[in-house]
Parts: sequence; C-alpha cells; structure tokens
Amino acid sequence: MQHPDAIVGWDDERNAELYDRFTREHPFYADASRDLASRADLADKQLVIDLCGGTGVTAAILLDHLPPHGRVISLDSAPAMQTVGQRTRDDPRITWIVAKAENIANHIPEPADAVVCNSAIWKTDTPTVFTAVKRTIRPGGRFVFNIGGGFAGLTNRESRTAASLNDLIIAIAVADYGYVPHQESRRPPLTPAIVEAQLAAAGFSTITSDIVTRIGTVDEKRAWLSIPLFARPPGQLTHTQRIEILHKAYDQVDKTQETTTRWLVVTAQA
Ligand SMILES: C[S@@+](CC[C@H](N)C(=O)[O-])C[C@H]1O[C@@H](n2cnc3c(N)ncnc32)[C@H](O)[C@@H]1O
Repeated sequence: MQHPDAIVGWDDERNAELYDRFTREHPFYADASRDLASRADLADKQLVIDLCGGTGVTAAILLDHLPPHGRVISLDSAPAMQTVGQRTRDDPRITWIVAKAENIANHIPEPADAVVCNSAIWKTDTPTVFTAVKRTIRPGGRFVFNIGGGFAGLTNRESRTAASLNDLIIAIAVADYGYVPHQESRRPPLTPAIVEAQLAAAGFSTITSDIVTRIGTVDEKRAWLSIPLFARPPGQLTHTQRIEILHKAYDQVDKTQETTTRWLVVTAQA
C-alpha cells in the first residue's frame, strides 16, 4: 500500500481512481469533451483516436457522437489511468492502448477519421505529436484539442472581489505551514500563433482557434483540488498537509462564488 504522501504522477492507482471519480461526479471534463466532440465532425465517421485519453471520459462521449458502428482508440501513457478506465467505462467499441502521444503513429493500425485530445496536449511535445498525428489521420480528417488558459498564455479576466479557493490555500499555507511561494516553472506558453505555426509545420490547416470560458462551482473546484496530482500548493508540503489546507480554505471561502476557467480550443484539418 502506497503512503498517502508518496509523490504521485499519472501512473498512480490512487490518483487515477480519484481522477476517474471526479470525471463521473462533476461535469468539468465531460463538458470540455462534449465541446471537442461536437467540433470533430463525427456524425458519419468510423474511427476516432482519443489522444491522452486517461480513464475514458472523452472516449465515452466520442461514442455518443459516432454512428453505432463507430470505434474509439484511447491512447495514454499511464497504465494506471487505462486500468481504471477499462473497469469503469468498459465498452467493446473502445480499444485501450498504453503509449506516448509522441509515438501514436506506431500504434494505429489504419488511418483515423479524427483525433481528439482533451485537457492534455500541453503536457506533450507538441511539434512531435502534431507530426505523428498527421501520419495517423486520413486527409481531410479533423484534429481537435484544447489548452488550459494558463498554458496558452491567456490572461485571467476574472473580476472577483472575494478571495478564491486558490488565494486562500496559498494564504493558509504561508501563514500556518511555513510555505514559501515560488514561481512555478512552466514551458513557454502555447499561444494561438505558436500552435497555428506548429500545426502548419506538421501539415495541418487551422480551421478555428477559439477562446472559450467555462463557469464552475466552488464545490467542483474543491473536488478537483482533492485529486493528488492537482492538490495545491505545489512543492514542499505533503499531500496530507495540502488536504488539511484545502479543508481550511473551503471553510473560509464564499461558496456562492463562480469559478472561471478559460480555454483555447483548436480545430485543425489534415
Ligand atoms: C488531465 S488528464 C486528461 C485525460 C482525458 N483526456 C480526460 O479528459 O479525462 C491528462 C492525461 O494525459 C496523459 N498524458 C500526459 N502526457 C502524455 C503523453 N506524452 N502521452 C500520452 N499521454 C499523456 C496522462 O497520463 C493523463 O491521463
């Protein structure tokens, strides 16, 4: 049994279980997946790849958009995510493949009609992945993905007056746990212009590049921050401490507050 404070990554069973539970109890990933599926032009298609498919929330939604004979290949590099997905979203029309997105071209047996990637593309080496996806998709097929606003260089447009759950988490961590805030190291942002240029270099044309806003609840945010990989603040504290801080922050936060996330949503054509 793993210690609750062990450092987690995507290939961690407990994290995968909690992530999957979140996707079933809250609409955050399903809403984003539905948006991508509706842009992928799937009504008369047969084979779609769910890239970085995790525990399969997107795959299940893609099946709803495909005709009855449609199939989905869900590809992810974390076996733990796929193991949980195979258990909770068992469907003979989904094939699960453990592989890195960068290697997708070595794992797809026939040209795909579309490739969809929800909430993950910025974790990959995008120029390599775009080139590999181009090799797996039939000419004219769509490649649709989204990028969290912070990773796309979008500025936050929130005009809040009350402290957010994140603000309170940092304040409590500093005051009660000796936390020293530091700048998180992030890759350079994948701005719309950079994404479009990388897609063009891989042989795609960008059809649309939209900024969408999603409104959620404080309770949904609290549940998301309980997933070990997303718990805050990053760095020196243990997971047990992060959960204690989250509970304290939740006690103090204005629970009627809306939480806003912005996304860059890109539709490209091979
Ligand atoms: C936030 S989850 C999204 C999962 C799923 N698309 C969904 O909407 O629930 C990110 C996923 O990306 C996967 N991932 C990260 N980097 C990857 C890579 N280079 N190749 C394949 N999968 C990757 C992780 O294992 C994880 O399952």
